[in-house]
Amino acid sequence: MVKQKIKLPKVSLKNNGKVGFSIYLPMDGQKYQDRFRDRRISQPLSAMLFADAVGTNDIFGFKSFDFISNPLGLRLGLADMTITDHTIEIMKGVVWDYEKYPQALISGDTGSGKSFFLFSLLNGLIKSGAVVDVADPKETDLSVLGKTASLKYRVTYGRDRILKSFYRFYLEMIKRGREYHDLLNDNLEENVGNYRKYGLKPHFFVFDEFGAFVSGLKYNESEAIQQILGQITMLGRQLGYFVAIAMQKPTADTIGSASRDQFQFRVALGKMKSSGLSMMFPDDVDEVQFKELSKNLKGWGYLAMTPGQARSFFAPVIPKDFVPFKYFDELGEQYPAVPVEPMGEIKEFLASKSAKYVELNF
Ligand SMILES: Nc1ncnc2c1ncn2[C@@H]1O[C@H](COP(=O)(O)OP(=O)(O)O)[C@@H](O)[C@H]1O
Ligand SMILES: [Mg+2]
Repeated sequence: MVKQKIKLPKVSLKNNGKVGFSIYLPMDGQKYQDRFRDRRISQPLSAMLFADAVGTNDIFGFKSFDFISNPLGLRLGLADMTITDHTIEIMKGVVWDYEKYPQALISGDTGSGKSFFLFSLLNGLIKSGAVVDVADPKETDLSVLGKTASLKYRVTYGRDRILKSFYRFYLEMIKRGREYHDLLNDNLEENVGNYRKYGLKPHFFVFDEFGAFVSGLKYNESEAIQQILGQITMLGRQLGYFVAIAMQKPTADTIGSASRDQFQFRVALGKMKSSGLSMMFPDDVDEVQFKELSKNLKGWGYLAMTPGQARSFFAPVIPKDFVPFKYFDELGEQYPAVPVEPMGEIKEFLASKSAKYVELNF
């Protein structure tokens, strides 16, 4: 018998506390090097080790792959989220930069934790200095917030009022577009940036149960909403206009596929069927092993900041004694709601600039 000698590369493993580990693979020009490139190796390892591949680093002579085996260990509490002027920490070490990954899409069945995650996002958005509007078509968890100091007059429920407030948000974006255009013309010598450079604030529209809302619209209204949403997701990033939309399932008739592609921050909560997962994470559905992360906890799921790969996620814990009204009212001491601009004034401005926009009769 001829003995064959197989030489395997030296691989090192580093434990990263209780939540995960890193694997270091040599990049020493040997024949294995090619196989150690990103997804080719991280995917099988991820399946084998029952852990999420969350990142890679190039170090001299090595490539390291980071894995999370216990995402629950990275869960934050509502009060522990670190927030800056355009970033929100949503899990330990996982930061959502809403200028880098604009437009948020959150999906999940009833009871999966969408509205509770929106509480965390609202907390983050308000503290980041954004102007925030909220729509709660089902008039449940978020509707009381319109009487709090941080969101006063900025929360709507009921079909017509929501249509009107979303339309106003859109018109404000068109107005911002004109203002921004003028600012650029006045500063031709400067290099391009975004809205923030000129001291303008980010503006968010947080929309819970978007699917339920759209299904209650007439055909022409729903067409108009899709058109408006398409423009916001396309133009909003540079102007500082963003949406965070939650719904059960992002089907093509609730959210047009062109605007769906523009959502770069995606969270699917709870157990999802593969049809739902392929709408949320089309590039990952065959590669990532979507697992049930908990049987008794709520607010778990998968998250992707596209084009990055989907990874397991636990939304910040909302404490048992959390009273939304009290919390957001107190938040308003430091972050008071910005008064709502009357629709008439916005339209007057747009008319003075001969601005083009989708016309709806409100
Ligand atoms: N992040 C969380 N922290 C604590 N409890 C949560 C969290 N997410 C969900 N829950 C629990 O699950 C229930 C359902 O969550 P909810 O956000 O209302 O689901 P959805 O809006 O998707 O229907 C909540 O009432 C709460 O008890
Ligand atoms: Mg809900």
